Amino acid sequence: MPQQAVRIAPSILSADFAALGREVQALTKAGADWIHVDVMDGHFVPNLTIGPMVVKALRRHSALPFDIHLMITPVDPLVPAYAEAGADVISFHPEAGPHVHRTIQLIKSLGKKAGAVLNPATPIAAIEPVLGDLDLVLVMSVNPGFGGQAFIESQLAKIASLRKAIDTLGRPIDLEVDGGVNLDTADRCLQAGADVLVAGTAVFHGGPDEYAANIKALRGPMRHTRP
Ligand code: DX5
Ligand code: ZN
Repeated sequence: MPQQAVRIAPSILSADFAALGREVQALTKAGADWIHVDVMDGHFVPNLTIGPMVVKALRRHSALPFDIHLMITPVDPLVPAYAEAGADVISFHPEAGPHVHRTIQLIKSLGKKAGAVLNPATPIAAIEPVLGDLDLVLVMSVNPGFGGQAFIESQLAKIASLRKAIDTLGRPIDLEVDGGVNLDTADRCLQAGADVLVAGTAVFHGGPDEYAANIKALRGPMRHTRP
């Protein structure tokens, strides 16, 4: 499957939480492709963030796909609430529940795209048997929980291996990377085969007047196709 055009998914974890609706509107106007929503439960990860009611309230502020990254366990009981709230893609960590295939089917049964997220130490093998059932694989290039962390270089090899596996399968599975993505690391992620870049710090840097320039810089003029 040929790699798709680069898409930029700003993470609203770095937004002004007192003005989330306005922030989502600003990102939409600034040329974001997806809105990445980091959902944390204070249990699977040491932070607590965005419930389904907030996602629902944000839905009317943008027509862009909502890319919901669930860092919660157990995951299955809350999937329907995020689907109803307006998710387009719902991703979960295989560690968050004992039945990865069942969670994928649950997400798809609700008409949403299903993604699996690999923590830095989680091998591809954790999802390899169900790769063909997925619409997206998200590689964490930091430990989940917080924005503003340093990119973990060892994840580039994982991205490259996943690119090969996806190409071999020949299905349109998005390959997304999340954590420490900036102008320097973005290039290497794309060269390794990623086609969706999540970025918090790098998009929000400088405030709303800079969102468009920041998104454009991450996308880069030469980055639409794989070299
Ligand atoms: C971390 C989140 C990321 C985070 C990325 O758990 O999944 O989406 O917000 O933030 P930056 O781009 O600042 O590393
Ligand atoms: Zn995320």
